[in-house]
Amino acid sequence: MKILVTGGTGYIGSHTVVELQTKGHEVIIVDNLSNSSAEIADKIALITGVKPRLEIFDLTDGNRTSDFFERNNDIAGVIHFAAFKAVGESVQKPLLYYQNNLTSLINILQGMNDNGIQNIVFSSSCTVYGQPDELPVSESAPIKIAESPYGNTKQISEEIIKDTINTSDLHAIALRYFNPIGAHETALIGELPIGVPNNLVPFITQTAIGIRDYLSVFGDTYPTPDGTAIRDYIHVVDLAKAHVIAVDRMLNDKMKTDFEVFNLGTGFGYSVLEVINSFEKVTGLKLNYKIVDRREGDITQVWADPEYSNKELGWKAEKGIDEMNLSAWKWEMAYQESKK
Ligand code: UD1
Repeated sequence: MKILVTGGTGYIGSHTVVELQTKGHEVIIVDNLSNSSAEIADKIALITGVKPRLEIFDLTDGNRTSDFFERNNDIAGVIHFAAFKAVGESVQKPLLYYQNNLTSLINILQGMNDNGIQNIVFSSSCTVYGQPDELPVSESAPIKIAESPYGNTKQISEEIIKDTINTSDLHAIALRYFNPIGAHETALIGELPIGVPNNLVPFITQTAIGIRDYLSVFGDTYPTPDGTAIRDYIHVVDLAKAHVIAVDRMLNDKMKTDFEVFNLGTGFGYSVLEVINSFEKVTGLKLNYKIVDRREGDITQVWADPEYSNKELGWKAEKGIDEMNLSAWKWEMAYQESKK
């Protein structure tokens, strides 16, 4: 089946393209390369033996997007990753985030509607739950007022998709990710942030390899066992596999309702210090870090109740925190070596 993957040269997108191709799907990537590079398509080809078609344009361009869908009206499904994702930046530049993340989604849905394409998997986030009242957090937990414009774009996007479903033949699955980390076992693709990383694990690997002087641990006075914040880290390959299952569920008419939501997490929470300890254990390195103030907008703790996803999708995250850290480190080393 022909699948459009927007943002397919990005971090989660590239790993998902690999899994889709491995399962025999034909992939077209649309990406504006704002946070990735065209070389990723070559890396994917090294892993799978098939170079995905890559069209480079911005999905906020309505004319280009509508032209794309007219030319490719045989697409069976869309996985929509392309979006900005830096929480802090979204607070500084809210209009940029709303404009980018919402306009692209609207253009895609319009293009799908105009060309009879009915299936979309949407990249959502556990950020829609805010700081949940109950842990682990299940799909039925209330949606909290968003902590950031980024988080708000995920909430509004889910609403836009639901409203579109009410007036069309669209089917959608929103996958709410917890914290994806790690890299492909070949170390050919991984998380490659442009500039200073916002997220924990790329910052750890860049510190360990000497690009950053030290990691700032944002706060050790949270009401958690060691005082640092807790997240549900999930291996990006486990996450990618869930996308293939979600697409196949749609294409095989297995959905229970026209709009389904699934949590993608492991069900286990790790504190920042536990992630650091695991990294030091699997790499044998000592990480230079300092405790600093809390980061604005961070919540104390969140981890998933993955039971519904496990049962309904027949999917389970398999890789543990040590494997996640080791794969991220192998990727960082391979990437820095390749630049020499
Ligand atoms: C956030 C969003 C998530 C989004 C993701 C993408 C929320 C609740 N979560 O995840 O939806 O998909 O960003 O970018 O909005 N940390 C440090 N030092 C660092 C970096 C991080 O101590 O240099 C800590 C953070 O305080 C946090 C943990 O590490 O406790 C994870 O942080 P990060 O990787 O940035 O992800 P989230 O903020 O959880």
